[in-house]
Amino acid sequence: EAYLAPSGPLVGKHVLVTSGPTHEPIDPVRYIANRSSGKQGHAIARAAAAAGARVTLVSGPVDLPDPTGVTMVRVESAREMLDAVEKALPAEIGIFAAAVADWRVANAGDQKLKKNAGALPDLKLTENPDILATIAHRNEGRPPLTIGFAAETENVIEHAKQKLAKKGCDLIVANDVSIGTGVMGGDSNTVHLVSASGVETWPTLSKTEVAQRLVERLGQMLKGA
Ligand code: CTP
Ligand code: CA
Repeated sequence: EAYLAPSGPLVGKHVLVTSGPTHEPIDPVRYIANRSSGKQGHAIARAAAAAGARVTLVSGPVDLPDPTGVTMVRVESAREMLDAVEKALPAEIGIFAAAVADWRVANAGDQKLKKNAGALPDLKLTENPDILATIAHRNEGRPPLTIGFAAETENVIEHAKQKLAKKGCDLIVANDVSIGTGVMGGDSNTVHLVSASGVETWPTLSKTEVAQRLVERLGQMLKGA
């Protein structure tokens, strides 16, 4: 058997990727979720593996095949996702592509809630941990390259700049989910890279191409190019 020595710009690097939505239980049969196919996050994991990296993909529930050559960690909720991310670190690159639900139900039921004529369930929401901000603001164990995403419906660049500052990450990959491409669940994406060095808009590309270009760029950034 031929032995193929690992090759590619990310050989010897650990890349952690979050992908997909999170599901936050209301009761044993119902949940709150975000719209996310996981296609972009999974494509990034695949591209990083193809670039020679060791890849851990922490994913919420998605209807996608597991990328080959990637360590999969399946989670449901935001809190489980944060736990899995902490267990998977350290990494040279952290890419937080998951659509994490911002809120969970504080008083989730142990039993299925029953419809009760006229009475609505008294659901109390509480905020989920911000996984990206938690990791990016850390002094120890922060991936040297920490990347966030921002799916926006208006003022895309402005919101992305605000998120870059608030989350403390190195780069925000922003897209407008109100236009034809980048539409949730679609196969193409029009993204803007927002960082301290400015804003770079890429042409509309397939999610696979966005992933490959992003991984290539991150390899250069890691080398300080
Ligand atoms: N993110 C996260 N944990 C959360 C919420 C968001 O890790 N609880 C990450 C996402 O994976 C993404 C980035 O933060 O990389 C931006 O997510 P987004 O939902 O756009 O930002 P929010 O700060 O939640 O702002 P809003 O939803 O109000 O636009
Ligand atoms: Ca959010």
